[in-house]
Amino acid sequence: MKIKIQRESLVEYEVNLKDATLLAVLGEIKTTQDSSLTYASGCRSSVCGSCSMRVNGREVLACSYKVQDGDLLEPLKNVPVIRDLVVDMDKAYSFNQLSKAWINSLSPTPQVSQENEKINEVQSDCILCGSCYSACPVYAVNPEFKGPFALTRVWKYVSDVREGESKEKIDTIQTNGVWDCTLCNECTLVCPQDISSKSDIEKLRARSAMAGYSDPSFASFGGGFGFDGSPSF
Ligand code: SF4
Ligand code: SF4
Ligand code: FES
Repeated sequence: MKIKIQRESLVEYEVNLKDATLLAVLGEIKTTQDSSLTYASGCRSSVCGSCSMRVNGREVLACSYKVQDGDLLEPLKNVPVIRDLVVDMDKAYSFNQLSKAWINSLSPTPQVSQENEKINEVQSDCILCGSCYSACPVYAVNPEFKGPFALTRVWKYVSDVREGESKEKIDTIQTNGVWDCTLCNECTLVCPQDISSKSDIEKLRARSAMAGYSDPSFASFGGGFGFDGSPSF
């Protein structure tokens, strides 16, 4: 089986492993062929999120993906490459902080029902693998977009009944936030935890509208629609 890895240039390797995970194949190459090959890994069980990379243009976790002959491996997109398949996630993670993705102020009566817990249960499963960030097309035009995983975290805390100041979070995500998303759904398709950041962003847009905000691209349109749906200027 042959695979190609995008390093400083494209390098092809031959490996004799069957039904192996990508992480096992990378380990085999590093041990037996090229000790300079660099990649990140930790738990080997889809929990730590450190081994995400792209295969044939699609984000995967190397520890769960089964390698196919002819696969092309590349590092994540939208982040600086440190070396080979290792990327620098510092700026991507800083969007959690910029978005205030945490519990700000505990409400005085934090009664959490089972129903409340279910509202943001899946969002708690994010392993910060960065796959959604890499797949998001918005970074090609706006590197300051707060992005899918940070906005998913904001939804997690905005929808948490214990949060006493959710309006402040909604204020924070108006610039380079919910309105910059194109709702293309690429983030959802690559998430190994079945989280839909697109859907979380839609819910945050609805909360933003309830707080009096609207899509700034409509505000700059300068017109409106008549009762029959035709544009008026
Ligand atoms: S739905 Fe929004 S956040 Fe998700 S990939 Fe598309 S533009 Fe990015
Ligand atoms: S939302 Fe999904 S794809 Fe994005 S960082 Fe979290 S686990 Fe990874
Ligand atoms: S090594 Fe932890 S998610 Fe793959």
